[in-house]
Amino acid sequence: MTNSVKDTVYKLLTVMDSETQIRKYLKRFSSDEGLKFAVIKVGGKILKEEMENLIASLSFLKQVGLTPIIVHGAGPQLTAHLDDKNIKAEFVDGQRVTSPEVLKAAREVFIDENHNLTSQLKEVGVDATSFYSGVFECELQHQDTLGLVGTISSVEIEQLLKTVKKGRVPVVSPLGETQEGQIVNVNADSATFSLAKAVQPYKIIFLTETGGVLDQDGKIISNISIVNNYKYLIEQPWVHSGMKLKLEKVKDILEAMPSATSVSITKPELLAKELFTDKGSGTLVNMGERALVFDSWNEIDQIRLKKLIESSFNKSLDANYFTSTNLYNVYVTECYRAAIILLETKSIPYLDKFVVSDDAKGEGIGRALWEKVTWKHKKIFWRASLNNPVNKFYASVSDGFMRCDDWNVYWVGMTDFGEIQQCIDFATSKVKTVEQKEPTS
Ligand code: ARG
Repeated sequence: MTNSVKDTVYKLLTVMDSETQIRKYLKRFSSDEGLKFAVIKVGGKILKEEMENLIASLSFLKQVGLTPIIVHGAGPQLTAHLDDKNIKAEFVDGQRVTSPEVLKAAREVFIDENHNLTSQLKEVGVDATSFYSGVFECELQHQDTLGLVGTISSVEIEQLLKTVKKGRVPVVSPLGETQEGQIVNVNADSATFSLAKAVQPYKIIFLTETGGVLDQDGKIISNISIVNNYKYLIEQPWVHSGMKLKLEKVKDILEAMPSATSVSITKPELLAKELFTDKGSGTLVNMGERALVFDSWNEIDQIRLKKLIESSFNKSLDANYFTSTNLYNVYVTECYRAAIILLETKSIPYLDKFVVSDDAKGEGIGRALWEKVTWKHKKIFWRASLNNPVNKFYASVSDGFMRCDDWNVYWVGMTDFGEIQQCIDFATSKVKTVEQKEPTS
């Protein structure tokens, strides 16, 4: 391994602080003999500008025994090549028309880029195998307008999986063939989605320069749940048409996948952080769990909720909790993996519990639930013990907080001091409803 790759692998490891999280994800990604770990799309721009980080990240995966399938693009390289050769390509609706001449150039460029990637991987000890035919069977649906561009009708994954089984990374170019044997150009994103549909991996990863889906302030959106956030997002004026198209495709693909599958968008240098921590580094898109809302304890599975609360706090819940509390609303995801409980007070709802099960951490379901609640209830308040690991999150989402003896009291939506004072009084005088578990021996 070269020194720069070693340095980067080291850097990748040090950005991750929790060994238990790393182990959790490693175990998850290695199930099914690691055959279904990930399909990773690497755009042409990344190959051009981020090769070193890319190689280091893939080498890191190799070190921990994971073998992804890679699909690469090469858009900018093809444009440069066509310019060099003075080949004019037409565009229809923003898509390049693939004339026989363009196809020939595309093949040359794709094969070149593919070889370049595999040989650089081999240099750092990552075995890799190139695939530029025999994977995507296509139809020529738009020959009149787009020329030799294929619409994928089926994907042959046997050879790819055999390669993965041997611990070699398949590097796949976006080229297909029609039944008649005509070679065709395919869109690299479509190739990635079709391949993922066939392989059904745990992760579908897009490595991009921006490293995620950006919000209106240019900040990375950490989680997108299709059932909880998609509709809202797609209606936002700041989501530009390219991103809308991609989100639509992501939604289609996730609907055709096992529920554990997720799509991550990140940068090459932050790939390890995305994969091996709960928080990640880019945007994680998954189906998410639908949130149910009740205003009475009778409608809820109390045993499941109690279990969720107790496992989340690792404490026992007061035996009279459900009979003695004055419920306002309880939000719970359909599989009881996250819940938010709001209690009634004289005026503003008090957030009594916010719980997320350990196996759901990293999926963003807590966050999606939080957003649902704060979208509906403009004013709420809550307390958290001083050593609560969620305090940082609370500080970032609240409008203000006050430290009062053993508690931090947080609020949103309030500016009136009298109102805030009432909330603080309520929060600090509340009797505890979870207690340290009795030692079992
Ligand atoms: N490591 C987990 C995964 O890859 C969680 C990642 C969370 N990422 C995020 N951008 N919120 O599935």
